[in-house]
Amino acid sequence: MNLEYLSGFGNEFASEALPGALPVGQNSPQKAPYGLYTELFSGTAFTMARSEARRTWLYRIQPSANHPAFAKLERQLAGGPLGAVTPNRLRWNPLDIPSEPTDFIDGLVGMVANAGSEKPSGISIYHYRANRSMDRVFFNADGELLLVPEQGRLRIATELGVLDVEPLEIVVLPRGLKFRVELLDAQARGYVAENHGAALRLPDLGPIGSNGLANPRDFLSPVAHYEDLKQPTTLVQKFLGELWACELDHSPLNVVAWHGNNVPYKYDLRRFNTIGTVSFDHPDPSIFTVLTSPTSTHGLANLDFVIFPPRWMVAENTFRPPWFHRNLMNEYMGLIQGAYDAKAEGFLPGGASLHSCMSAHGPDGETCTKAINVDLAPHKIDNTMAFMFETSQVLRPTQFALQCPQLQLSYDACWASLPATFNPNRR
Ligand SMILES: [Fe+2]
Repeated sequence: MNLEYLSGFGNEFASEALPGALPVGQNSPQKAPYGLYTELFSGTAFTMARSEARRTWLYRIQPSANHPAFAKLERQLAGGPLGAVTPNRLRWNPLDIPSEPTDFIDGLVGMVANAGSEKPSGISIYHYRANRSMDRVFFNADGELLLVPEQGRLRIATELGVLDVEPLEIVVLPRGLKFRVELLDAQARGYVAENHGAALRLPDLGPIGSNGLANPRDFLSPVAHYEDLKQPTTLVQKFLGELWACELDHSPLNVVAWHGNNVPYKYDLRRFNTIGTVSFDHPDPSIFTVLTSPTSTHGLANLDFVIFPPRWMVAENTFRPPWFHRNLMNEYMGLIQGAYDAKAEGFLPGGASLHSCMSAHGPDGETCTKAINVDLAPHKIDNTMAFMFETSQVLRPTQFALQCPQLQLSYDACWASLPATFNPNRR
């Protein structure tokens, strides 16, 4: 299957899988072309400012309303409820991929969250592991999903069309969009941020100007593609954190044409235009922001998706790893590939770390010693891709995250070997 994509961010796209399937000049004609039904898919309140409004008109074989009652599934999301409060720095080894058949939904594990699903802001973070394609279709009423694959290519068939994603790419699925995750490799693993707040968008660039960081044209949305399948299909939804399902007699991925801006999209992180110092020190990590979900307080993010991609380090007379710091913001980090430049060991692809509000962190002892003594020639950090889900509200780990064997009990020790360099007699 050779996939086509529409390029741009926030655009009012239009796509039709059959010629003339999109009504011309109006959204909801008495009779839509080809006998299709018209349906509005609204991602924001009707009355939002035009710059915030997200909605898509769908022209489909059956309206979504044609479904029986949902019943709560026996098997709920793994991870359990939130665990005990802890201010400690936490780090996890990668979670194993199960050996029993596990699709994307069964393989989701809740790790941390800072708000219940019913709240209009906040995020929840999951890891996914899968070894088989979904034969059911899923939608999430609780928020937008940002998927960060770490292992295995995915084909994501959505109502609006099909997206292929691989590690080093990300995909964003709007709240409520129906989709099926298929595996293109034997197994898959990665991270998911569930954004309960304002939809992700590109950050403002300020003095950087009109280009740089993630450029709009590198965001790709699918073209219309429909399934006209009269076969039993299980439709699962997540609603207030619970999984519910109903049985349809047709595929719900039956949209023949659509137009609008409430769309799924993917982005290749290798296209990120990394900006950094050409003199001394390095800028705050916000310079690496790919996407942001703002709050009503200007400059305070509900979710920033930040990456640490390959880049040149050229700063003069500068401690080059990330500085030691304590933040208001809460940082959940993951690693897609290679090693992260602040840690010599212990932070593995597929693993994660959590540094909460005001918890002190920075490079480990080995990295720090090296950075103080190294010859500062220009140096390329290569073959790496770490990322951060950063959020303004404190993230609490789930019971699973606090009890799983992957939790590293000796994480604090990585700072115990910081060299004693203070000498009052030598400036
Ligand atoms: Fe940090």
